Formats: sequence, structure tokens, C-alpha cells
Amino acid sequence: MKKKIFITRKPPEHVLNNLQKLFEVEIWNSEDIEIPRNELLHIIHKFDGLLCLLTESIDEELLDKGRNLKVISNLAVGYNNIHIEDAISRGIMVTNTPGVLTETTADLTFALMLAASRRLVEASHALREGKWKTWSPMFMTGMDVHGSTLGIIGLGEIGAAVARRAKGFNMKLMYYSRSRKPEFEAELDIEYADLHTLLQTSDYVCILTPFTKDTKNLITMNELKLMKNTAVLINTARGGIVNEFDLIQALSDGVIWGAGLDVYEHEPLPLDHPLLQFPNVVTLPHIGSASIQTRTKMWELAAKNITLALQGKTPPNLVSRLK
Ligand code: GLV
Repeated sequence: MKKKIFITRKPPEHVLNNLQKLFEVEIWNSEDIEIPRNELLHIIHKFDGLLCLLTESIDEELLDKGRNLKVISNLAVGYNNIHIEDAISRGIMVTNTPGVLTETTADLTFALMLAASRRLVEASHALREGKWKTWSPMFMTGMDVHGSTLGIIGLGEIGAAVARRAKGFNMKLMYYSRSRKPEFEAELDIEYADLHTLLQTSDYVCILTPFTKDTKNLITMNELKLMKNTAVLINTARGGIVNEFDLIQALSDGVIWGAGLDVYEHEPLPLDHPLLQFPNVVTLPHIGSASIQTRTKMWELAAKNITLALQGKTPPNLVSRLK
């Protein structure tokens, strides 16, 4: 009898076809609406494998109901939506999709840095709103990226890919991470600093660390106050790493110059959210890895992970072993 898997969003045709050859597949047949939590709780007991997104919270309640689950394949590199320890204690494999999204997410991070510093979104809106009356020396002036100092919090593969881009802009590089990264220090001429020094020295602070209990609220008002008032904060990792209440306060008080954000404490961001009121904040709807090529590769990798796990093999991106 074929094993059963559930996919919480509509995959590309070729991914679905391949999975259907091997498994009995049920899907939540929508590309842009989440499966209601109650529905997932109601059906999850039927499945051996779950291919899910970061929009699904895979917590104790869901794992209790998913008594036949052997693998959870997350379509993302981050897996803070999954209660890993609980999954491990139940012998459930958890996989993610690293690697394939590294360069695409680094592109977006760099784009956010350029957009926030040179006020690209604000300037485009100004033109469309008829505010471009003449060429004017100080109209829409921003901050230089080239030659400035970039501080990367969390120097993993994506952080290193951002640093490589920054070298082309002649930026001075520093990083703060849980552990020293000698291979990146040698390759990129990037200097290790404690968080305090990094925040005080950087013109751009990019957050690229995973969201864990240790990085939750890593950046609060205390940290924001250490930054230069000409500095820009970029977050393409997870919302909860920066305390949003404090960030809003800091932006209101001019503690920092601007921000570029792709992630938020609660997503999707409601339209009346205070962060949407600041002209000096570029706000994106969590699209770090959203190129057609990369999202397709992520689907293919997530499908490979769930397939190998259910065939009794070790999937390439098993995260539940790391802890
Ligand atoms: C997206 O945020 C991811 O973790 O892949």
C-alpha cells in the first residue's frame, strides 16, 4: 500500500506528478490561501508525511494528532514554525531547503539595502504623486552604500553570499555570530566583532541569523540605541529577532536612519501596521527566496526530502539530527 502524504499548498505540476507516482497525495489546493488550522488538525492523522510551509505551526497539538507522521518536510530554510524537540522525541524526521535559496536571498537582502539607503520606493512614489517639480540638489538624497561598513549578524551561507556582494561595493565587512567562521574570515576579509561593537560601527546592519529562543529579541531598544543615527537596519531573517515595538519607537525618534524589512513578528502584516507609515522603511512581503527558479528548486528539494525519508533513507536536509 502506498504511503500517504499531505502538501499544504499547491506544488508545481511536475513536483506533484512525481510524488503521485510514489505516494497517495492529498493537497490543499490553493497557491495563496493557508489551510485553516482546524482542517489540518482534523486530517493530519491520516498521513505518513507532511510537506508544509512556514505558515503552518507544527506544534505539540498538531504532532499529537499526527500520530502516523514519520517526516515533516518544510518548504523553507528556516524551521522555527516546527517544534523540533517535540518532533525528535516522537521520532519524526524534520527537513528544510537550504542551499538552493542562498544566492536569491542574498540578492534580495542587498536589494533591500540599496532600496532603503537610496530611498528607491519613496522616490518612485514621489514621482508618481507629482512631487518631482524640478531637478533639485537635495531632492530624495539618501546614504551611500559603496565604501560604507556592513555588519552582518549571523554569518552562515546567506550572510557570506551578502558579504561577497558587498565586496563589489568596496564595503568594510564585520560580523557577529554564535561561533567564529575562520573560512569566511579568510575568504572575505571580514572581521569578527561582538554585537555591541558591530552595532556601533556599522552603517548597515543585516540580520541573517536563524530565529531561536536565543535570538528572539536580540535587537531591542538597547541595541538600536547603539547604532549610528545614520545607519540602516535590514532584516531578511525572521521578525521576532528584532523587537518590533522598539523598532517602531526607534524609527519614530530618529534613533536610526531607516530600515529594510522582509519579515515581521506577525505575518502577513496588517495594512494599519505602524511600520507601513514610515517613508524611510522599505517593507516587503517575505519574498527573500522568491525567484521562479529558486522557489521551483525549493519545491523539488522538499519533495526529495519527503520521498527519501518515507523510503527509509536519510534525506539530504535532515535538521532534526543537528540538535
Ligand atoms: C524563508 O523565510 C525561509 O526560511 O526559507
